[in-house]
Amino acid sequence: MKLRLWKERLHPYELAVKELVMKLQFVIKEHMDCGVYCPIEKVNGRVKSISSILSKAERKGIPVDEVLDRIEDIAGIRIICQFEEDIYQVVEYLRSRTDMKVTSEIDYIAHPKPSGYRSYHIVIEYQVQTSFESCTIPVEIQIRTLAMDFWAVVEHSLQYKYEEKIPDRIRRRLMTSAEAVISLDEEMTAIRDDIKEAQTAFHKKANLVQDIMNSLGVLSKTVADEKLITLQNRFFELYNQGNMEELKQLRDEVDLLCKMQLQEKLNL
Ligand code: GTP
Ligand code: MG
Repeated sequence: MKLRLWKERLHPYELAVKELVMKLQFVIKEHMDCGVYCPIEKVNGRVKSISSILSKAERKGIPVDEVLDRIEDIAGIRIICQFEEDIYQVVEYLRSRTDMKVTSEIDYIAHPKPSGYRSYHIVIEYQVQTSFESCTIPVEIQIRTLAMDFWAVVEHSLQYKYEEKIPDRIRRRLMTSAEAVISLDEEMTAIRDDIKEAQTAFHKKANLVQDIMNSLGVLSKTVADEKLITLQNRFFELYNQGNMEELKQLRDEVDLLCKMQLQEKLNL
């Protein structure tokens, strides 16, 4: 197959990665806007390079014209979570989505690889529509915690450096650090509720501030300066006190004022 042809045949994979990253990042945004904890911390995606596809095909004895059908991680998404429990929640969530179908799952967290590698892998079938065709392609999704990701990235770069023959001495240290990752995740789980509470409180406050600022912006066009300054001063005072209850009241008040202004305008 010509290189140019290869590039074109990878278009559906490229589109799938772009769409999925955008959709999953939107999930994070929706949670933030509602002030609710999101089990997804961040999302990355990539299409395997042509040279990696060819070397994987060679390694696995796959004939070149069968690679697109037989390699399932040409399109790859990585979902990073803060806590181990979040991973299982994300898996459950992906199973429930109607725009993808989970076709296989491997739990390398319950059953780590001999290297010490841990992650949850799923393969989905995902439909895309390019300018020329509509097709269903496989996408590999790796779900792991920040700590698991740190280990995997370091180990992967060592594999690369030593061309997959990592010396025993380093292998042993990697195994020790894989154990350290397990205890780090366990420690984090133990204080998970406190961390989550602090994070959602932060987002709730940020959302409130944003709402109030938006409303004050709208009111600044119509309300008398004095009234606006009074509202603004009240806002700064409550913000400095961190008084969430009264900030909520103020948000409802300014929101109501905005609605009334709008109504007046419409009645004119
Ligand atoms: P490969 O993709 O060639 O590894 O074969 P596979 O698809 O049969 O294996 P698997 O599903 O176990 O692994 C797929 C992907 O998981 C790899 O491409 C890596 O991104 C990741 N992975 C698996 N094992 C390891 C490991 O020991 N170390 C690291 N760093 N990553 C791994
Ligand atoms: Mg795989």
